[in-house]
Amino acid sequence: MKWLVWALFASASVASATPPVQSVSPYAVVGDAIEKSLTGQAGDPSRGAELIQQRHKSLCVLCHSGPFPDPHLQGTLAPDLTGIGERLSAGQLRLRIVDMKRLKPDSIMPTYYGIVTNGKDTRIAEGWRDKPVLTAEEIEDLVAYLRTLRP
Ligand code: HEC
Repeated sequence: MKWLVWALFASASVASATPPVQSVSPYAVVGDAIEKSLTGQAGDPSRGAELIQQRHKSLCVLCHSGPFPDPHLQGTLAPDLTGIGERLSAGQLRLRIVDMKRLKPDSIMPTYYGIVTNGKDTRIAEGWRDKPVLTAEEIEDLVAYLRTLRP
């Protein structure tokens, strides 16, 4: 099952337009959270709501379900995100999107804000190994949106 997910990830990445080259700014992890905004500003929840549904860009709904349109197209490989804004703080959400593997090294969830320094990691499509999957702004938009998901 794992290889299938990564195959999906790789092909979805290749299918999308080549993003501009980005850099990863340093961030501080405290406990299980990144408390400070990666951009120094709050994200835009409406942009985050759009991004989370973009199957070929954010990929979130390949694995996650939640209160998003098209429930029949949502994945079942990961926890449902309904009510996640109540369970996790902005800082906790931020670290999970930035680098879930820091909390769970064998997680299938992609590291969205990091650079794969191990060139042998062939699970990431070649053109994507030296740049983050999402920009700092996009991650902040997702955090802002997920915080609105409360029961
Ligand atoms: C390849 C599958 C996959 C993709 C794509 C994915 N995730 Fe995840 N995600 C997981 C899994 C699996 C977990 C549960 C932790 C674990 O077992 O690794 C998780 C956990 C989470 C959690 C914590 C949930 C909780 O209940 O504690 C959040 C928040 C989250 N993901 C958000 C996102 C967002 C936002 C995106 C898109 C930017 C995304 N995920 C993309 C697989 C994925």
